[in-house]
Amino acid sequence: MAQQQAKILVTEPIPNNVLNFLQQHAQLYIGKKGEYQKESNLLAVIENYDALLCMLSTPVTKKVLEKGKNLKIVANFAVGYNNIDVETARSKNIKVANTPDVLTEACGDFAMGLLMAVTRQFNSAEKYLRDGKFTGWEPLGFLGMELRGKTLGIIGMGRIGQAFAQRARAFGMNITYFNRNRIPEFEEKALDANYVSSVRELASTSDVLSLNCPLTNDTYHLIDESIFEIMPPHSILINISRGPVVHEEALAKALHTSKIAGAGIDVFEEEPNVHPLLLTAPNCVLLPHIASATFETREAIGMLAAHAIVSVLEGKNDENIPNLI
Ligand code: DGY
Repeated sequence: MAQQQAKILVTEPIPNNVLNFLQQHAQLYIGKKGEYQKESNLLAVIENYDALLCMLSTPVTKKVLEKGKNLKIVANFAVGYNNIDVETARSKNIKVANTPDVLTEACGDFAMGLLMAVTRQFNSAEKYLRDGKFTGWEPLGFLGMELRGKTLGIIGMGRIGQAFAQRARAFGMNITYFNRNRIPEFEEKALDANYVSSVRELASTSDVLSLNCPLTNDTYHLIDESIFEIMPPHSILINISRGPVVHEEALAKALHTSKIAGAGIDVFEEEPNVHPLLLTAPNCVLLPHIASATFETREAIGMLAAHAIVSVLEGKNDENIPNLI
């Protein structure tokens, strides 16, 4: 009797090349956009699957993992994996994979672009033009902070933090950082980066504060009202990590009361919702979690997740699957 093919649930449409690859190894079910952002939808079907290729917006909770009696692997289409209850997965011998490395450059580029968009007011200047208000070159129009010589303070000096630092160096910025563990000396030297031993010190001395750390119990609401109190009033916050690292209402208030000068925000506390006070805050660029959104990167992310799934389904040893958590 022919062996039954394994079944994989891919929670959202992803690049075709990835789906074609997976299709050669298993039966695929592809969710509709947003369908599996609801835990209840996932609970209703998860029992049927051997593997789950999910998004950072898929709540892979304890309940889901307990219901997923046939699950052998959960592969996240993202480097961050705070949406997955990794501890429960481990206890049930379900492997978990993420997608490190392949999105580093796209995110580094994006962080730099976001910083430029905030400091040079791309969004409001474009709106001004489209609204027909550009009536001639203005010597005092849309002045912004120059980056050369300014200090970029990075919280979380992993791959993406370092990729942002490299680009900022090319713009003439000075780099300081805070990280759980100090990075090796040769990496500090390559970026000419100075380590500081507290978030408060970094926040009070940076012209731009960038969040590039994972969301953990330690980083939840790391940036709150008390931090906005000590950030210089001309400073800017950039967040491409995870929304809950910032107390979103406190950020909105800090912008409304000019405690800081601006923000570039790609991630939100309760995606897809954005705090209403933030939507009306001045000098901020708000984007729908698109830091890794290039054709090349999204395909590479998918392929890395897909390879982990196929390897696990084929019974390969963990040592041969580099992106298992
Ligand atoms: C990730 O992969 O974790 C990022 O949030 C993508 O932008």
